[in-house]
Amino acid sequence: MLMASKLTPTLITWLILPSCLLIFLYSMLLTLYTAPRSHSSNSKNQILAPPKCNLLKGHWVFDPNHKPMYNSTCPFHRNSWNCIKNQRENMSRINSWKWVPEQCDLNRVDPVRFLGLMRNRNIGFVGDSLNENFLVSFLCVLRVADAGAKKWKRKGAWSGAYFPKFNVTVAYHRAVLLAKYEWRSQQLLLSDKDGVKGTFRVDTDIPADDWANIADFYDVLVFNTGHWWHYDKFPKEMSLVFFEGGKPIHPPLEMLDGFKVVLENMVAHIEKVFPKRMLKFWRLQSPRHFHGGDWNQNGSCLFDKPLEELQLDLWFDPSNNGVNKEARQLNRLIGSALKGTSIRTLDLTHMSEFRADAHPAIWLGKRDAVSIWGQDCMHWCLPGIPDTWVDILTQLIGYRLESG
Ligand SMILES: *[C@@H]1O[C@H](CO)[C@@H](O)[C@H](O)[C@H]1NC(C)=O
Ligand SMILES: *[C@@H]1O[C@H](CO)[C@@H](O)[C@H](O)[C@H]1NC(C)=O
Ligand SMILES: *[C@@H]1O[C@H](CO)[C@@H](O)[C@H](O)[C@H]1NC(C)=O
Ligand SMILES: *[C@@H]1O[C@H](CO)[C@@H](O)[C@H](O)[C@H]1NC(C)=O
Repeated sequence: MLMASKLTPTLITWLILPSCLLIFLYSMLLTLYTAPRSHSSNSKNQILAPPKCNLLKGHWVFDPNHKPMYNSTCPFHRNSWNCIKNQRENMSRINSWKWVPEQCDLNRVDPVRFLGLMRNRNIGFVGDSLNENFLVSFLCVLRVADAGAKKWKRKGAWSGAYFPKFNVTVAYHRAVLLAKYEWRSQQLLLSDKDGVKGTFRVDTDIPADDWANIADFYDVLVFNTGHWWHYDKFPKEMSLVFFEGGKPIHPPLEMLDGFKVVLENMVAHIEKVFPKRMLKFWRLQSPRHFHGGDWNQNGSCLFDKPLEELQLDLWFDPSNNGVNKEARQLNRLIGSALKGTSIRTLDLTHMSEFRADAHPAIWLGKRDAVSIWGQDCMHWCLPGIPDTWVDILTQLIGYRLESG
């Protein structure tokens, strides 16, 4: 569903107090990305150097020579993100902004070199449609090195591609909550008080079937969840009921407490079941840019340039209570669930916060989409911002595989 991510402005005010503590944890996370110390540079066959600085802190610089690596003809596009095909003006300008880290340059991915490094290995994405958005960008970039790339769908994958020249598979497993969940209609309940239509049973300790059996297949996995954890997706009459060990958790948990339990259990599952040699990343939230109201209140994102750094806190700091505040709130919970684990956080939030100008907005390729769903200020136009995520992820994968 396109609108995976349309979130209402319901407040999660109780979060603001504990968040003071979590700001601390969150800032600790950032230290993961400081430059690795004196990595031995004489290792044979070194293909990719370690990042020379924190790649995630920087700013966007306009550079008319900066061009995307693919266009609207990439066969892996999803129509609603294919902004060039959907005739958004000035797409070349959107793609002329280049991410420049504070203390070094971000190299663009070299698809031939990267796929060469990945030969006989596989990369998986697991999570919601923002990870699919990331995947589509990844596939279109890698296809530059192997025009024979074919659609691939197996092992519970939702979409993906196989690159025959390199024997590499890259695929997405759709699991919006990560945990298994299923609908139970109201017949199963004794009464239908408050117009309850039913509930979603969430087994907080069981991974969704879509990624239950992939531990042996992938060498790299990128997880995310967050954009569905909202009362807009699961309102009171169709709410989430959390289970653990096959029994309902008592007393029943509110959504964000359930989110925390799911995070803890999924992280524990990944640590226990997935092999040590596998590289694991957890992608933090992708920020939304609804302006002037939420998605169902005519919120829009018809911007023609990135936000200024000074505007970011106003838009995103939970204390300002804006409609897009959830990304930073959820990141704090994710950050504390990942602390001390082997899963690396991939904090793409900050760099993406600037890019209010780069969502599909009204260019969705369907006539009535905006009147029905509102603008899409959540996913990203492709080519677009996820291409920069690909530059960063490939550099981190390359370096980690090289350094063991
Ligand atoms: C799009 O990219 C393909 C290569 O993948 C190229 O052959 C084609 O000419 C490009 N089309 C446009 C309109 O730029
Ligand atoms: C495209 O760019 C031109 C020139 O900068 C500008 O006048 C126009 O409003 C832009 N169109 C959109 C839809 O942003
Ligand atoms: C392709 O890669 C898989 C691992 O993903 C490996 O098992 C298989 O042997 C490889 N095939 C060839 C022809 O090298
Ligand atoms: C959204 O815009 C439409 C058309 O301009 C208007 O009828 C409607 O009242 C607006 N909705 C909100 C919530 O502002």
